[in-house]
Amino acid sequence: MSVAHPKIAIIGAGIIGLSCAWELLKRGAEVSVFDKQWPPVGASWAAAGMLAPAFEAAGEGVAHPEFFDLCLRSARMWRGFAEEIEQASGQGVGYCEGPALAVALDEAEAEHLLRLEARLVESGLTAERLSRRDIGALERGVSPDFELALALVSDGRVDPRRTVLALRTAIERAGGVFEIVPEGVSGAQLTEGFNTCLDASGVGDGAGAVQAVEGVMLAFRRADMALDHVVRCGAEYAVPRGEHVLVGATVGEVADARAFLLSRAVRFLPRVRSAALVDQWRGFRPATPDRLPIMGRGSDARTFVARGHYRNGILLAPITAEIMAEVILGGELAGFAAAFAPARFGATA
Ligand code: GLY
Repeated sequence: MSVAHPKIAIIGAGIIGLSCAWELLKRGAEVSVFDKQWPPVGASWAAAGMLAPAFEAAGEGVAHPEFFDLCLRSARMWRGFAEEIEQASGQGVGYCEGPALAVALDEAEAEHLLRLEARLVESGLTAERLSRRDIGALERGVSPDFELALALVSDGRVDPRRTVLALRTAIERAGGVFEIVPEGVSGAQLTEGFNTCLDASGVGDGAGAVQAVEGVMLAFRRADMALDHVVRCGAEYAVPRGEHVLVGATVGEVADARAFLLSRAVRFLPRVRSAALVDQWRGFRPATPDRLPIMGRGSDARTFVARGHYRNGILLAPITAEIMAEVILGGELAGFAAAFAPARFGATA
């Protein structure tokens, strides 16, 4: 069932809430976005901005085929999505296509890359193997002591902060409303006067099935690193962004996050040893028990949910916006998105 004249309240002005707002506005809905502060301080603001479907091919643990497919679909939408937001807002979002470089320094990391390579090839994608000479020509700062290196052509990057800022401009230009929620205002008060509510609150207040998983990021002066590509090694990564190279990220609480990240990053990017550390921040990923997003209809016919995007909120923004616009305005959850429906967590989502 769909609502005839949807007047939609979106809770959360991170990239998921804003992307949904943008798509719903384009399709003629009346939309207001609410958040406690601006710029938003959630996962979107903390993210490095990798658009990295390839790493979901071999997953953390068991790869989830529907999730890999979702990531690929969204990665393919990003170029058009970025162009559209830039045009509508007059602001850049820092979108760059790949390749990202993935290096393995030990046997376990090499095994992971081999699994990933096999899965990519199976899906008709390429993962080009790189020699020492290739890596040297692409990125002189990468350690030559690797066992295996791949160029992941499907993986790009974007600046999430610029994207969030540009999305708000585009939304307001298209007639959408943005409001800061005053302290003490309840959800019920907030959504009074709306016939539809979309919960895109990310970690939000930690209620329901979404839990916060901490991540710490370091920012180095880019001039000291001279890095042009995203480089991944094991669970860590380095991402060039403007004047900085971001090195991340911890997953969960780590006693001395800076020392931990430095010790990991120096293995594949020895230049971090002498690069100026100019910033450091902590963010919280919205994680569900199965680490997959929650997208679809909520607890009643007027309530919808798009949360729990964990490590891939930036990548999944365009496809989430499309899925949510279809279910909210058309009444149907796309078949390929069924695996992510809130119902899998019962009433707690
Ligand atoms: N998306 C990368 C991370 O969560 O660290």
